[in-house]
Parts: sequence; structure tokens; C-alpha cells
Amino acid sequence: MNIVFSSSKLPTQGSIFVGIFEEGTFTAAAELLNEKTSGLIKKSLTCTHFSGKKGEFLSMIAPAGISLQRIVLFGLGKQEHLKALDAMEIGAHIIVEAKKIPDKNITIMLDLVESDHLKNPKLAALVGSGLLLRSYEFTKYKTQLKEKDKTHIKDVSIVTDSPKVATDLFAEEEKIAEGVFFARTLAIEPPNVLYPETFVKELKTLTKLGVKLEVLDTEYMEKMGMHALLGVGQGSTKPSYLAIMMWNGAEKDEAPIAFVGKGVTFDSGGISIKPSARMDEMKMDMCGAAAVSGLMHVLASRQAKVNVVGVVGLTENMPDGNAQRPGDIVKSMSGQTIEILNTDAEGRLVLADALWYTQDRFKPKAMIDLATLTNAIVVSLGSKFAGLFSNDEGLAHKIKQAGEETKEQVWQLPMDERYDRDIDSKIADVKNVGDNGASSITAAHFLQRFVNKTPWAHLDIAGTSWNHEKNIFSGCYPIPTGFGVRLLNTLVHKFYEKH
Ligand code: BES
Ligand code: MN
Ligand code: ZN
Repeated sequence: MNIVFSSSKLPTQGSIFVGIFEEGTFTAAAELLNEKTSGLIKKSLTCTHFSGKKGEFLSMIAPAGISLQRIVLFGLGKQEHLKALDAMEIGAHIIVEAKKIPDKNITIMLDLVESDHLKNPKLAALVGSGLLLRSYEFTKYKTQLKEKDKTHIKDVSIVTDSPKVATDLFAEEEKIAEGVFFARTLAIEPPNVLYPETFVKELKTLTKLGVKLEVLDTEYMEKMGMHALLGVGQGSTKPSYLAIMMWNGAEKDEAPIAFVGKGVTFDSGGISIKPSARMDEMKMDMCGAAAVSGLMHVLASRQAKVNVVGVVGLTENMPDGNAQRPGDIVKSMSGQTIEILNTDAEGRLVLADALWYTQDRFKPKAMIDLATLTNAIVVSLGSKFAGLFSNDEGLAHKIKQAGEETKEQVWQLPMDERYDRDIDSKIADVKNVGDNGASSITAAHFLQRFVNKTPWAHLDIAGTSWNHEKNIFSGCYPIPTGFGVRLLNTLVHKFYEKH
């Protein structure tokens, strides 16, 4: 799909999408079209329920005598309320509507449309951004797709007052969407195709953008003493890896921001095996790693002026004769011993070594991990907010702000000494599950034991990565959201990048 910005006036073919503000304020294009159609637009407003609210559409066949196929009115909401996220949402709604009609080209009339918050070209670029994000499809394995089921829409033309400015702004938005799509595709690929080794292969594509990639194999990790991570993968026939991505866009001696991702390419639960219903969804247990990788994609392609490392722990959790048992005690790279009481609480084991390694080697100024860590976070927050846990209120606040700006929202949960007591083990330093509920929080406390003084935050994205309800920018199951890429790109841009 091709998205272009133009200043040409009314098109002569295809479908034309025309914005109407709530309470009927006409945009310039609506006025012009109303004249050309002898008052059709005004009449349609009086004879229907369409009121210009964001997300509302009114689709009509263009009258004979006009070469256009269709006129579609779309709601812009209230002019004084129209902010960046609203513009993106409008774009997302438009592509959903456009897919319902058979036309190959659509034109979105946004000339002279502005709000108190957004200048015209910015508004146009953001409509393009939301449209692009929502346009993602994954049809790679559909070999018999019928012509009528294919997306027919090829060209989207957005009419704006300054196509040049809008094009430049959109180019940046496109880089963000590419990173989101990179993360989504990693998430949706089946686990027989995407496993630790092939995940690493995908990461090699990032080197073309200037990302430095280092891959630690099993042998090296053994030498480093990463037995927490390695124990998770020992029931799988597929070897585990730790991949390190580095983007250096600032001075060499500047400490990086570090992002660490859980990359369990399939989580069967191991010997503490999961029930079979919907077990297929556990191919998404690498969404943390995917988000970190997608973020690196964005930062490199937009040449962000910041030093960043992305570390992903890649492994597969399988039951097998050689699999880790409940009752096993392993020694992590930190030296702390872990009693494994449930092999299904494996993400924290992967992160224990990944976090320790990252902090030890890079001395980051902040470290943020992303993980589809607990079912309990799905119970508490559903798919609307990710769980946020932190040892640093300043960092937590920054992440919340970035969350509000991108609508990849987070909700902070408590950290408290008493939860930490819940994971004291009788015969080792720590156990991998607590007994007193609050399992998202005890999971966070487990991670914290592998973080020293580094400002650190943990995002539990089990509910936000893979939606069963509709998400404005991705739709719903089976399309993953790519949650975290936009959030963390905004965090980096706003708080850590030199401008
Ligand atoms: N990968 C799962 C968490 C998960 C659940 C992600 C649902 C996405 C959707 C994780 O490894 C897990 O199994 N967690 C257990 C921990 C428990 C054994 C303490 C859980 O939350 O049930
Ligand atoms: Mn698990
Ligand atoms: Zn898991």
C-alpha cells in the first residue's frame, strides 16, 4: 500500500473520504463537494444519524454525472479536541472502512483541516500513521486466498495544505510503523518457524540499518554461568541464545539505556505443563524480545542520537526427558541460587541472567525489561494497560508519560518488602514462585533480585501484546499489537535523546 500526500483538489476517480467535524462544521472539501453534488452532503446530514463523531462513517455512491465512485463522510470529532492520537485513530478507522469497499484508490480530503492542537500537515501525517499501523496483515501462509478476500486497496492519497511538510513528517512515522511491524511479524510467526536460532537470523537484518549484533551461544553462556536461562531451554532440541543489539547514536563514553526482552519462542510450561486449550497462543511468549527488536529497528532507521542496547534471551520451554524438573536448583550468573518450584514460571529465569548480564557489562543509566510474564496481569489489567513495576519513581513517571502519549498505557503496581519475603526459598536463595497470590508482583520482585542500583523498570505485557479485544492500531486476534515499540520510542525520544 502506497501512502502519498498531495495538494491536488478533488480527485476524479475512486472513493473520496471527506471529514466532517462533530456538530456539522463543514471542512473546505465538504463545502466544495456539497456544491458539486447540489447539496447532497448537507442533505445526508439531515437524513441520517451521522453526526461527525470520531469513528463514524457515512458511505454513499456518488451521484451520476460525477466521475467518482463513492463519497464517504468520516467524523473528525470536535475541532477543539483533535489531538495527535485522535488524528491517528481517525486514520486507523479510515483503513478499516476502506477495506469494506472494492476501490483500489482512495483520497482523503484534509486540506484546510486543522485543530487547536495540530497544524494541517502534522494532522495529515498522523492520519497517515494511524492508517498505516492498522493496515498490517499477515497472509504469508494463506496459499488459497481468493481474489475477493485480498486487500484491494493500493493507493491512498492524502490531500493536505503542505504535501512536502506532511511527506517529511510521515517519513518518520513510517519508520516507527516498520519497527512495529517487525515486532508483530516475529510474534505471529508459528513456533516451528520462529525459534531461537531463526529469531537470531531475523535480527541479522537489523545490521543493515547500522545495529551491531552479538550472539552468545549455549557454550559461551555456560562459561558465563547463565544456568537460569539455560535451564529453561534444556528440554528443547533447539539451542538457546542471548542476542545483544547495540545502537550507538551518541558519544562513545555515554552510558546507554538498556532494554531487555523475554524471548520464549514457545512456552509449553515444561514439566509443569500448561492445559492444552489455547496453548498455541504461547508462541507469543517472545513478545518482549520482539518489542525490543522492533524498537532497535526504529531507533536505527531514524538514526536516534542516543546509545541503546537491546538484549533478548531466546529459548524454548519444552517437556522432555532432559527438561528441568520442579525441585531443581540452578545457579544464576549473579551467583544466586534459584529453587525451581514451577517450570512454567520460566520467563523470570530467562530475565534473571539477561538482566544481570546487561547491567554488569553495560552499566546502563536505565534498564527496562519487557516480558509476557504472568497470566495474573491479564486478570488484573486485561489488554488495556501493561503492568509497570520499578525501583525508581522518576523512571516510572517517564514511562507513564510516554504511555499516555502513545496510548500504549501502563499501570504501576506496588513493590513491597513483604512480597519479596514470599519468594525466599528454604534451601536456596530464592524460589521462582510465591505461595500468597499477587503473582505479577512476586515475579517483579524476583527480577529485582537480579538488578542492583540501576534504575530499572519491568513491563508485564502479557495482556497488551496479543489482544482478544479490538485495539485501535492493530485490530484483534490473530494480529499482535507490537506493544512497547511506540511506547519506548517515545520514551527515548522525549527523555534520553539529544535534540
Ligand atoms: N508466558 C506465561 C505468561 C502468560 C500467560 C503470557 C498468558 C501470556 C498470556 C508465563 O511463563 C507463565 O506461564 N506464568 C505463570 C506463572 C505461574 C506459574 C507462577 C502464570 O502466570 O500462570
Ligand atoms: Mn510459563
Ligand atoms: Zn512464559
